[in-house]
Amino acid sequence: MAVVAQAQPNIALIKYWGKRDHSLNLPAVSSLSITLQSLWTRMSIDFNDELTEDTLQVNDRGAPAMLARVSHCLDLVAGADRRRASVVSHSNFPIGAGLASSASAFAALVVAADEEVGGIRNRLELARLAGAASGSAARSLYGGFAELIAGEEQIDVRTVCEASDWPLEVIVAITADGPKPLGSGDAMIRSESTSPFYSSWLERQDDDLKVARAALLSRDFAQLAAVAEHNCLKMHSVMWSSRPPVVYWNSATLSCMETIRALQAEGRAVFFTIDAGPQVKAVCLPGDADAVAVALQQTAGVIDTMRSALGAGARLVDPA
Ligand code: PMV
Repeated sequence: MAVVAQAQPNIALIKYWGKRDHSLNLPAVSSLSITLQSLWTRMSIDFNDELTEDTLQVNDRGAPAMLARVSHCLDLVAGADRRRASVVSHSNFPIGAGLASSASAFAALVVAADEEVGGIRNRLELARLAGAASGSAARSLYGGFAELIAGEEQIDVRTVCEASDWPLEVIVAITADGPKPLGSGDAMIRSESTSPFYSSWLERQDDDLKVARAALLSRDFAQLAAVAEHNCLKMHSVMWSSRPPVVYWNSATLSCMETIRALQAEGRAVFFTIDAGPQVKAVCLPGDADAVAVALQQTAGVIDTMRSALGAGARLVDPA
């Protein structure tokens, strides 16, 4: 019988960019994120004696390019001598486009696979396994505001506060719907070895985290906005100053940033953040979400918008 788990993508407010150890996929910096509610990936796994190879379907299509990563993750959870698996993934948002679909996918995958082998691990153990596949996936095991602490040998993840403690909203502006030109793993390697700003990025990260944590605990939106935008722009400065440059933005990305600046000038509680893709995530207080959504929908180059509150960590769900 197939086991199904659901996870939602998370959006980093203080970003993870760069690895301490590539073979273990250990991040070089700690990070802080919010887990979304209404965007989701549902992952169904069936370990089956009759299969001779793993199979993977993503949104009703075969996905051979992703299969090796999925199989490796299943090996980590269930052992390399496990039965082969039939894996079926559905996401209700564009995948591979800078919307953290790998985070929701691998978080759901480890929860479902662990259940298939008896449900033996706790949340942190599952987060470490998801993080070995995709660094940011570790955070999607946790709901609300999650902090990933980068250690020398392994990561720790903890909830800083619950979604209900500070119910922010996120409007995602989709500015391009194709796959991103360069995966984040390859882009990080390029930044680590070529960006002259990489070492100062590492040095300042703990300061940004401290400010963001304090802003969260005192519910200081202006302080969180300032440090999150600063941290995002620093990460993109590291990307832009890599050789060859890593530029994920398009002209609509910049237009969305201008829209958000204009909303801020009107006194709206909103800030932007952007990941390894051209989409813009506007984080706002619920009272300003309607105005932010309308303004982004009307911004030149925006294809679509999606809206989400903050949600829970990865979990088992009933098979549909
Ligand atoms: O988890 P990965 O390897 O897809 O890297 C994620 C990197 C960013 O999304 C750009 C930042 C982050 O902290 O999520």
